[in-house]
Amino acid sequence: MAEEVVTYKSRTTVYVLACWILAAFGGLMFGYDIGISGGVSAMDDFLIKFFPKVHERKLHAKEDNYCKYDDQLLQLFTSSLYLAALVASFGASKACTVLGRKPTILVASTFFLAGAGLSAGAEFKWMLILGRILFGIGVGFGNEAVPVFLSEIAPVQLRGAVNILFQLFVTIGIFIANLVNYRTSEMHPNGWRVSLGLAAIPGFVLFCGSMILTETPASLVERGNEARGKAALKKIRGVEQVDAEFEEIKNACEIAKQVKQPFKKLMKRSSRPPLIIGIMMQVFQQCTGINAIMFYAPVLFQTMGFKNNASLLSAVITGIVNVASTFVSIFAVDKIGRRKLLLQACVQMFIAQASIGAILLVHLKTTGSLDKGLAALVVVLVCVFVMSFAWSWGPLGWLIPSETFPLETRTAGFAFAVSSNMLFTFLIAQAFLSMLCHMKAYIFFFFSAWILAMGIFVVFLLPETKGVPIDSIAERVWKQHPVWKKFMDDDSPKVYEMAA
Ligand code: BGC
Repeated sequence: MAEEVVTYKSRTTVYVLACWILAAFGGLMFGYDIGISGGVSAMDDFLIKFFPKVHERKLHAKEDNYCKYDDQLLQLFTSSLYLAALVASFGASKACTVLGRKPTILVASTFFLAGAGLSAGAEFKWMLILGRILFGIGVGFGNEAVPVFLSEIAPVQLRGAVNILFQLFVTIGIFIANLVNYRTSEMHPNGWRVSLGLAAIPGFVLFCGSMILTETPASLVERGNEARGKAALKKIRGVEQVDAEFEEIKNACEIAKQVKQPFKKLMKRSSRPPLIIGIMMQVFQQCTGINAIMFYAPVLFQTMGFKNNASLLSAVITGIVNVASTFVSIFAVDKIGRRKLLLQACVQMFIAQASIGAILLVHLKTTGSLDKGLAALVVVLVCVFVMSFAWSWGPLGWLIPSETFPLETRTAGFAFAVSSNMLFTFLIAQAFLSMLCHMKAYIFFFFSAWILAMGIFVVFLLPETKGVPIDSIAERVWKQHPVWKKFMDDDSPKVYEMAA
């Protein structure tokens, strides 16, 4: 397995820093949306206007702890965006290859602005739904282009850290959204409009930012602009001597140019290793149960018997833990490596989920609530869970798929990773409250079982990519791995040899 670390000369200039941060605003747009919808769909003014029947039912909610919020229509409001994003990510992959990463980011911000405007001004249900779809297309385009952009412009020794800026901004977005909802839920009758409309701010920053961003050298060379590609590389490395790295990018582009149909190439055996890893990282990420907490933390805490304000406060605490722990990952990922972070987190997440399940199973019946001490313990366990997710599967779910595909299938392959994320986010968002109602405390054991499976997956199948230049992963990682190397020699061997 590749443990050798390659470095090329680079300096972190103000311009490069600005590119990293502006692009990461794509993550803020995504995070804001994850955090905002749950709160909005719980606001009475919003329900009365668009979902009066749901509101009616909420007033006469069943007294069963585990089932008070089970409502398909309400869950659909949260989850519909992810379906739009799922479809959009494939269009975004094409745009990324043909137009470049930078214009794709611009498109993302435009859709996001349109979505924010339409949802904030919505008078009828169709406007609200169209607004969700526009948001979703924005998320699909942003989540496709931003992680790939960040991985491609980052110097190899900092690639993990730079890519994790995306996730850091996701967590900041979720946190801001929770605070916004906390305030707007008191603003009658239009608080929900403010919540949805404020999404325009990150959208606007990204829109302006995408004018300033550089295009990535790989994308420029891939589209035939060698001179501009080299100039861009010099600019983002802040040094003149970039020949060795540029050669590597050019080699990768040579190979990429021979592949006319990236999606067809992805179906070949030799593409299986990054494809399986890319998809499974995202599926597993969602099956940790993280979004059960991100979307429904206040509801979850109410299930345990917290009052309204106390549950919001607990959600804010988990939000802070989420942001703070992401920094651990930024500092650790390029030093400790991806595999160790993922495995450590599996142990921590397993203990937290299984313990929450055990406490609720024994102490929380369908009516009544947990006693104070146990409720506080559950909040601590939720924090322990969120903390480990935030320095492992959260950021690495995006990082690893963005760095493991060779250039010729990178955007197409990453689209599968993004859409798997969206599909499973949709499924969890749509199903969680019903699962909670039917499985009760056992739902936490269900997530624990997934965590066990993902740990085993990492041990046997996930190679370490720390310190490996993005454009030589095929040679240095897949061809060296005991399991995956068997997949690498069936087609176009000459093409891969060129990269050596
Ligand atoms: C996931 C989101 C999740 C967030 C939590 C992201 O990596 O894709 O689904 O809500 O992390 O911080």
